[in-house]
Amino acid sequence: MGAVPRTLRIAPSLLSADFADLADAIARAEAGGADAFHLDVMDGHFVPNISFGPALVSAVRRRTRRPLDVHLMIERPDRYAKAFVDAGGDTLAFHLEAGVDVAETVRTVRGLGARVGVAIRPETPFERLVPLLDRLDEIMVMSVHPGFSGQEFLPEALPKLRAARTALDALGSPADIVIDGGITTASATEAAAAGATFFVCGNSVFGGGSVEANLREIRSAVDQGAHRALR
Ligand code: DX5
Ligand code: ZN
Repeated sequence: MGAVPRTLRIAPSLLSADFADLADAIARAEAGGADAFHLDVMDGHFVPNISFGPALVSAVRRRTRRPLDVHLMIERPDRYAKAFVDAGGDTLAFHLEAGVDVAETVRTVRGLGARVGVAIRPETPFERLVPLLDRLDEIMVMSVHPGFSGQEFLPEALPKLRAARTALDALGSPADIVIDGGITTASATEAAAAGATFFVCGNSVFGGGSVEANLREIRSAVDQGAHRALR
């Protein structure tokens, strides 16, 4: 491992921030070194929770220049992709389990000019993503059941990260391996050691204490894990 130098990026999830003061959350996260922002879109059908839609993504877009990583936990990502790209999403990740034609939806998102990711729930085997890997910019491995922030990291995600790392390296693909859910300093180190390159953090960044200090701790945990991966 370690032949390709990798950029390790941290993306705070705004789902855990104070929606009435998002501008402040964004500014603090940027001051703490956030590389991107993760936006969790939930429709109350694909997941048992409702969060926000394109209007909020475009409000966030006006407050930051960092890339926006839009995680679509919705039943019809094909139907709503354009609205989220128009709102300023840089990457749209939709779920393999959403029940749409996945290859076609990948083409739709790319045709709109956005980067494309596919996400898998904890119970979905990584192997189902393999036929798509050469077309993706982002593999999103979920380490909690989608729907809510603040859940505990499910270690079943780790072998999937390793499998993704091996498969992408074999293809020579620079795609990001995203780990989403329950990222703390401990799980960030484990995930980085297993090959993740993009770390979504909600509660560990916005759940209490200083956002800047929380982010710095996550960063050093990620660096430790990446160092372990290189040994
Ligand atoms: C869960 C979301 C996650 C979540 C992360 O459905 O996809 O992005 O907001 O929050 P934490 O880090 O608190 O698990
Ligand atoms: Zn998410």
